[in-house]
Amino acid sequence: LTNGVARTPPMGWNSWNHFQCNIDERTVKTTADALVSTGLAALGYKYINIDDCWAEGKRDWRGNLREKRSTFPSGIKALADYVHAKGLKLGIYSDAGYKTCSKTMPGSLGHEDIDARTFAEWGIDYLKYDNCYHDGSKPLDRFARMSYALQKVARPILYAICECGEENPAKWASRYGNAWRTTTDIKDIWESITSIADENNVWGRYAGPGRWNDPDMLEVGNGGMSLEEYQSHFSIWAIMKAPLLIGCDIRSASRETLRILGNKEAIDVNQDPLGVQARKIRSKAGLEVWAGPLSSRRVVIVLWNRSKYRAPISVGWREVGLSI
Ligand code: DGJ
Repeated sequence: LTNGVARTPPMGWNSWNHFQCNIDERTVKTTADALVSTGLAALGYKYINIDDCWAEGKRDWRGNLREKRSTFPSGIKALADYVHAKGLKLGIYSDAGYKTCSKTMPGSLGHEDIDARTFAEWGIDYLKYDNCYHDGSKPLDRFARMSYALQKVARPILYAICECGEENPAKWASRYGNAWRTTTDIKDIWESITSIADENNVWGRYAGPGRWNDPDMLEVGNGGMSLEEYQSHFSIWAIMKAPLLIGCDIRSASRETLRILGNKEAIDVNQDPLGVQARKIRSKAGLEVWAGPLSSRRVVIVLWNRSKYRAPISVGWREVGLSI
């Protein structure tokens, strides 16, 4: 979508992978503080995204969504002001159905305009839009409706489509959104990383500035994998031009976790202005070569050993598209 945002993949933090529904305004504020104090914000992580479970179970008498008073007592607008004052941006979550996936709050189906206006008034910069409890109509229609609603409001809002790859969103979502999930939910285990990488790889040619394949948020730092596995996860997400949305608790992240998430070279590759998704160009017995073009006639290469054994992997210049 050409709406001026996400010319490079979005970077930031999202509450879901670590906190699920246990989210409140203190957590969001202290995470915003930590994003700045760790130096991650300066490296480009600027979105603080609240996922599911932030609203009351029912709309008000005018039909407006309202924040859950018990967990967000100061309101989302005040939270947006807080986050903006730190030079960051605030993201929120809704659903192209009658309820969100957690079933704890209403979705936006049939309320697209009123909700887009609410989000804009609050100062929201990013909307993740999920696909639960809908009426069975085509996702394209339901996701398009929110896209038009967002385009009508005065504020540029990054629109992340979370259809989860059910109806090949890469083929239709770039007209409506800035990113689209290509797979089901990520898990904090190695098999999830390798299978999602392979599924997301298939859609490589659909990505570009303003429109990104989204293989889901990062699990780095959540504890289920080794540091080497997290390093591979981060490297492959970076070269696939995935949104880099941190999914751990930054406030208590270890030095090693911060080192992986703060790898400037990997981030520079992810944020390269050419915006071409690197792809798997060779694979044999778990020994893989992934590569893709960067700006200024450069190339990024990742040699990925997915086998159980130590092994050398080599690649020729010609194979990665460089003539010598
Ligand atoms: C499904 C999405 O894929 C997750 O990322 C998360 O947003 C949950 N829904 C929230 O219920």
